[in-house]
Amino acid sequence: MKRVLSGMQPSGQLTLGNYIGALKNFTALQHTHDCYFMVVDLHAVTVPQEPKALKEQTEAVAALYIAAGIDPAKSTVFLQSHVHQHAELGWLLTTLTYMGELERMTQFKDKSAGKESVGAGLFTYPSLMAADILLYNADLVPVGDDQKQHLELTRDLAQRFNQRFGDTFTIPEPYIPKLGARIMSLDDASKKMSKSNPNQGSFIALLDPPDVIRKKISRAVTDSGREVKFDPQNKPEVSNLISIYAQCANKSIAEVEALYEGQGYGPFKKDLAEQVVALLQPLQERYRDIRASGELHNILREGAQRASEQAELMLRRTKEKMGFLVL
Ligand code: TYM
Repeated sequence: MKRVLSGMQPSGQLTLGNYIGALKNFTALQHTHDCYFMVVDLHAVTVPQEPKALKEQTEAVAALYIAAGIDPAKSTVFLQSHVHQHAELGWLLTTLTYMGELERMTQFKDKSAGKESVGAGLFTYPSLMAADILLYNADLVPVGDDQKQHLELTRDLAQRFNQRFGDTFTIPEPYIPKLGARIMSLDDASKKMSKSNPNQGSFIALLDPPDVIRKKISRAVTDSGREVKFDPQNKPEVSNLISIYAQCANKSIAEVEALYEGQGYGPFKKDLAEQVVALLQPLQERYRDIRASGELHNILREGAQRASEQAELMLRRTKEKMGFLVL
């Protein structure tokens, strides 16, 4: 069985972009693959986090994984900080990573732009992400489009290591959906929908109440036309809303276009809001049940144990290959 690994940062509330670009695929892949899904809390602290909020968000992301349909009996669900081997392999891979490679990362450029002091962890972030993936010999990594560059670096690092020290790591493939790999902001279709955007109206959080979802969608920017047509170049805002509709309702773009032919944006947006509510309401109910059940810590404890066993095997192999004295 092929192995899948992916993760999400607990750096804010998960959005519909996270769901469509990644989480939806996590749940689909678990039926056919050996899956590892983690909450990457060590990555979250590459930008300042308020300790209380970090803890709450970490639990929230783990609970949302389960609420979205990840079955902890099938998939290994854990926190990155519970498996210390991530930090250790992250360091080893940092020593193999070139400054130039890290300087080229667009996520680093975006997150550091205009800041006076930038933490070194934000710069070396991709080496830790490579460690996350290579520790489990993952074949497939389901992510949104914005992680493509990090995945390419992971592949380069795995190849570099294998060439220098002998065959050790599997070269992972990205698993990026054809549709919905880049959901854009509701207020500006040139920016991706992001949980760290200070404008709450720019994203739909998975835990937004139905009325908030309706309000955000009714206020979403469109254009001065009235045709519900998928044309990302000329109609980026409407095309983004059509993508969201198609992904939430499990319809094709053409089906969505056909449904609203000649109807204008009003009915389209109204129905879109109901589609999103219909998708998220049951998820939110399961989320509340999981948080109330007190089961989450047990799931994470068990997940960490399973993940640690695998991670320790790979870390020992890596250290031996590099010439560390492993006793
Ligand atoms: P993060 O936490 O920013 O996002 C989690 C996942 O959601 C996807 N995503 C989107 N997809 C479509 N449209 C959007 N607007 C959108 N916003 C986010 C992301 O592509 C991602 O798949 N570096 C990673 C976390 C990470 C990781 C890993 C992922 C750390 N180690 C190992 C895979 C494997 C990140 O910051 O994702």
